[in-house]
Amino acid sequence: METLRWKDGTLCILDQTLLPHKVVYMEVKDYRGAIKAIQRLAVRGAPAIGAAAAYAMVLAAIEAAEDGREGFMAGLTAAAAEIGEARPTAVNLQWAVKRQLGVAVEAAQEPEEAVHRLLTEAEAIFAADVEANRAIGAFGAGLLPLNARVLTHCNAGGLATCGYGTALGVIRAAHAAGKIKMVYADETRPLLQGARLTVFELLQERIPVTLITDSMAGYLMARRGLDAVITGADRITANGDVANKIGTYSLAVLAKFHSVPFYVAAPMSTIDPATLDGAGIPIEERGAVEVTELAGVRVAPEGAVAWNPAFDVTPGSLITAIITERGVFYPPYDFGDKNQDVLPQRHRVHRE
Ligand code: MRU
Repeated sequence: METLRWKDGTLCILDQTLLPHKVVYMEVKDYRGAIKAIQRLAVRGAPAIGAAAAYAMVLAAIEAAEDGREGFMAGLTAAAAEIGEARPTAVNLQWAVKRQLGVAVEAAQEPEEAVHRLLTEAEAIFAADVEANRAIGAFGAGLLPLNARVLTHCNAGGLATCGYGTALGVIRAAHAAGKIKMVYADETRPLLQGARLTVFELLQERIPVTLITDSMAGYLMARRGLDAVITGADRITANGDVANKIGTYSLAVLAKFHSVPFYVAAPMSTIDPATLDGAGIPIEERGAVEVTELAGVRVAPEGAVAWNPAFDVTPGSLITAIITERGVFYPPYDFGDKNQDVLPQRHRVHRE
């Protein structure tokens, strides 16, 4: 199922707030609509947000081109600032906006040509993400034992990316290699991306999945045993600290206590070498209503005060390894130059 697609000058976004009950593609005709879709989580997951932002820049460029050569870059730069602020934590968003601005600058004298190049670049970002996820899957599958029991959190699947998934990409590849005994999916309060999206994806793929509530993870590790926790990431800092969906940090602490390997799967576009450690990551706080309500039904009494950080930060010291399309990184984390093609040998994992 495609997360988003470009069709005849329109960005079509699968509205994930309606899943798993309804499959509806919304038609987004300007960049402001794309920002709204990102903010209300119609499209979500760090790599998917990055791709949506890349296409939002195309929409913004079409609009800015109406002002001719003189007004083009000013209009596009102003829109880029708005798009870049749609959600603060996933660095893929700012990464995609910056990349698109660079493309636009090169063709700024010919706005029509710039629009064309931005669209080509958005398509390249989309395709590269799918390719990255397949490589992540292959590297990650190599880390899992036979008959693996794996826990994942939130949704880091095809829906959170441009296809295949990061954490679910590893699970998909491991399943294809006959290695998966059971995937446990955390429901992921407050917005239930695990229950609604991860279980949906795994059922579609016929991968064995058991849904648990977030608070069951410790008991699962203690009683049933677990071979790995695998999550995605919204931002990975230079020292290997990882921002991901709220609840990830608790899982990493539990995994350490129970000696369960804790893996993070993410493309290089999620690495933010400019931020030294997790303390520098902006954490999105969303409306209290997402906590006081469950699936639109009020569960807390009127007047209840709620706190709703959407992400937390897991220190790199709790992470066994970070799986990227360039290979597997182990602590102490050193991602080198993320734009360089070749990694030092010690970071690489070779497939048979
Ligand atoms: O609020 P969301 O649904 O955008 O949060 C998504 C996550 O936290 C994912 O784990 C992360 O973006 C990685 S997706 C491959």
